[in-house]
Amino acid sequence: MSSPTYGVRHIAIIMDGNGRWAKRKHLPRALGHKKGVEAVRNIVRVAGEMGIEVMTLYAFSSENWNRPQEEVSDLMGLLRQYIQSDIDEFVENGVRLKVIGNYRALDSDIVAMIDNAIEKTAQNSKMTLAVALNYGAQDEMLRAVQHIAGRVRSGELEPEAINLSDISDALDTADLPPLDLLIRTSGELRLSNFLLWQAAYSELYFTDALWPDFDKAELEKALQSFGHRERRFGGR
Ligand code: IPE
Ligand code: IPE
Ligand code: MG
Repeated sequence: MSSPTYGVRHIAIIMDGNGRWAKRKHLPRALGHKKGVEAVRNIVRVAGEMGIEVMTLYAFSSENWNRPQEEVSDLMGLLRQYIQSDIDEFVENGVRLKVIGNYRALDSDIVAMIDNAIEKTAQNSKMTLAVALNYGAQDEMLRAVQHIAGRVRSGELEPEAINLSDISDALDTADLPPLDLLIRTSGELRLSNFLLWQAAYSELYFTDALWPDFDKAELEKALQSFGHRERRFGGR
């Protein structure tokens, strides 16, 4: 039997806790990240089977460059492997890959791999997997402001005429449906610069589960919690 999704179209996840997962098991952090990739692979499959339209995953933030260089390069290595090994499955399962964040600042071979994967999966329509890479919501808004300022300078738009759609259309998520449910693993109660604009009326779900342990049962718990929420959007 398929699991109920309670009308959720778009789920985003702050995948946190790989380091603590490894620490608890007396393993190197890198192994925690490796397990984290396996959890990604699994949850993407599960979400596809459930009929979730969009899954947005926070994989590397614009602040994660502050980590030791060795960890950053481990993460970039895993990203290379993941794109290479999973692209065929995306094609097979109808998954369209999208990237949010300033990914063009990553190493040029990764940028090329991403562009290739985006192109190869562009026609897929079962699910969109949006991966946040070198993503920060404040950076996203800054880029949006620069884009809109350019439109104003060219005379295409008057400052007083700028509306909410102009802003959301200038964000990396412009083509995605509204964010229904934002999940964070590992017990941290903060957004860490993720989807600040898009989360305006999202339902929030925090779990103590560490990301490598987040599986189908955990996703079902989050959806069930969503199912009990009353969304008001400021109305009554
Ligand atoms: C999340 O796990 C993965 C990334 C941020 C890339 P962490 O590496 O943040 O794990 P903790 O928070 O140290 O446990
Ligand atoms: C948020 O996790 C970023 C990702 C999951 C990619 P962090 O581990 O970087 O967040 P903080 O530093 O605990 O706020
Ligand atoms: Mg963390």
